[in-house]
Amino acid sequence: MAPASSASASLTTITTPRVSASAAAAGRTKSGALSLTTGPRRAPGICAASPQPRRRMVAAAAATEMAPAARGEGGGKPFVEEMRAVAMRLHTKDQAREGEKEPQAPPVNRWEPTAEGYLRFLVDSRLVFQTLEDIVDRAAVPWYAEFRNTGLERSEALKKDLEWFSEQGHTIPEPSAPGTTYASYLEELSEKDPQAFICHFYNVYFAHTAGGRMIGKKVAEKILNKKELEFYQWEGTLSQLLQNVRSKLNQVASNWSREEKNHCLEETEKSFAYSGDLLRQIFT
Ligand code: HEM
Repeated sequence: MAPASSASASLTTITTPRVSASAAAAGRTKSGALSLTTGPRRAPGICAASPQPRRRMVAAAAATEMAPAARGEGGGKPFVEEMRAVAMRLHTKDQAREGEKEPQAPPVNRWEPTAEGYLRFLVDSRLVFQTLEDIVDRAAVPWYAEFRNTGLERSEALKKDLEWFSEQGHTIPEPSAPGTTYASYLEELSEKDPQAFICHFYNVYFAHTAGGRMIGKKVAEKILNKKELEFYQWEGTLSQLLQNVRSKLNQVASNWSREEKNHCLEETEKSFAYSGDLLRQIFT
């Protein structure tokens, strides 16, 4: 696979600031492997303020060049496989077979969820999903538009679930720190660091369809009389929706340099830290 897309880079190579030091501080740098630096970095093909004709040129160049790379042809493996491999290693051994971390919390089947805690998790999750959806709808970086209406969106489903809880007599809390902190970090990244933003986009959506669903089932068994929330139901065939998003991620990343891809992968640990803070609310 070509290391970077020459066509789009030559059309619109601009300099964008890398994620700010304050954003780096906001995330927890739990590992020395995470290196968020400040200063300028080159972002091929990204030009939020570029005039329309120029955008069209990028789109046309991208459309002809992306397909083989998106399929993983040309020797390289599809980028989503790299993202998945990094994510799987960050699981604990009791969470997933490929996990490599030692567990620091009880396994999901020993969680003792409370309705209050679960509601806080759902409210914060809604804020995070709504933020992701708004960001791709706005598409301040033009290629974010690729990720509109994927069928994986969750904010409407969560809205219905929260209405159901309300009908059952529960008070719906306001979003709390884990959700608001993550949402503002995503907003900031989406403007300053598209590759890191995409890492979160991938992990949030895909985690929810894997471990997230498993957690939802266990919680429903323990405190919801097995009611299946809308949060865990998708219109259409989930595997197909996921496959479509994987292809788009591969396409988009086929325009990134190796440095940008590595930068995206390095963000995975933060994605786990932020999502972990949300999940922990279920049983605390
Ligand atoms: C208690 C917490 C969690 C559990 C029990 C869990 C469990 C799992 C399981 C069982 C899989 C499927 C493994 C397979 O395909 O063989 C998976 C996949 C995955 N998880 Fe988690 N996970 C948890 C938390 C997280 C978190 C916090 C993230 C990141 C924010 C995450 C990201 C992912 C990703 C990206 C995949 C790959 C999905 C795919 O390839 O379709 N997980 N997880």
